Amino acid sequence: MEQALLKINHLHKTYGDQVILKDFNLEVNKGEVVVIIGPSGCGKSTLLRCINALEDIQGGEVLLDNEPVRKENKNISKMRQKIGMVFQSYDLFPHKTILENILLAPIKVQKRNRSEAEQEALELLKKVGLADRRDDYPRQLSGGQKQRVAIVRALCMHPEILLLDEITAALDPEMVREVLEVVLSLARAGSTMLIVTHEMAFAKAIADRILFLDNGEIVEESNQPKDFFKQPVTDRAKAFLKTFDYE
Ligand SMILES: Nc1ncnc2c1ncn2[C@@H]1O[C@H](COP(=O)(O)OP(=O)(O)OP(=O)(O)O)[C@@H](O)[C@H]1O
Ligand SMILES: [Mg+2]
Repeated sequence: MEQALLKINHLHKTYGDQVILKDFNLEVNKGEVVVIIGPSGCGKSTLLRCINALEDIQGGEVLLDNEPVRKENKNISKMRQKIGMVFQSYDLFPHKTILENILLAPIKVQKRNRSEAEQEALELLKKVGLADRRDDYPRQLSGGQKQRVAIVRALCMHPEILLLDEITAALDPEMVREVLEVVLSLARAGSTMLIVTHEMAFAKAIADRILFLDNGEIVEESNQPKDFFKQPVTDRAKAFLKTFDYE
């Protein structure tokens, strides 16, 4: 059987006395695209933040390539480099150019050779249609363009898995598509991704597997996304999908 790239075993996460994730288990194989959907506050972002140890956890473990990802571990910086993360807000440095934003971590953290990293950054920028913006500053770019830069910045670190948390949530509708196209092409090229999204059509198109979360638990899981969206099994998933009917 194929060895899972990411394994989450019995993860337990609380904030104070509020339980956010209870006995959460998940395996993601290399090349797999797993999409997580669910109501606001059900724990999607918390889950992604636990995966790269941005949160303290109260039980269980996260393994990448069978190695624990834990805040306390000496190798946590190395482990985090294997986990690319893109959020709703792109967090580019305003006083650095697009190219410098992308090169910062590869050069400073990974100690890569500048010209080699630069060549890769430029190739990636070209792939997302932004080669000519390398010397611009973030304020000169649209939201969709900045988000594409944020994706390139994550890719330039050569992550083994990409975690995407509602990366189009802050964008105007006409910019959503250009960002989702980039993510779709990554999926087709075999990237392993864990995606949180409220874009149901996108989820249906890109997912190898859908997880529907509610109250920190996987309520429904399907490796037939089209069937899931057409005919969810649980009442909770049915009720959730109904809220998108106006679209
Ligand atoms: N730093 C924090 N301190 C205390 N509670 C928190 C903190 N971060 C999140 N929570 C709580 O944890 C729960 C899960 O939040 P989370 O952000 O993971 O939800 P989500 O599924 O990503 O929601 P959304 O779709 O709105 O982004 C919520 O009840 C939230 O209020
Ligand atoms: Mg969230």
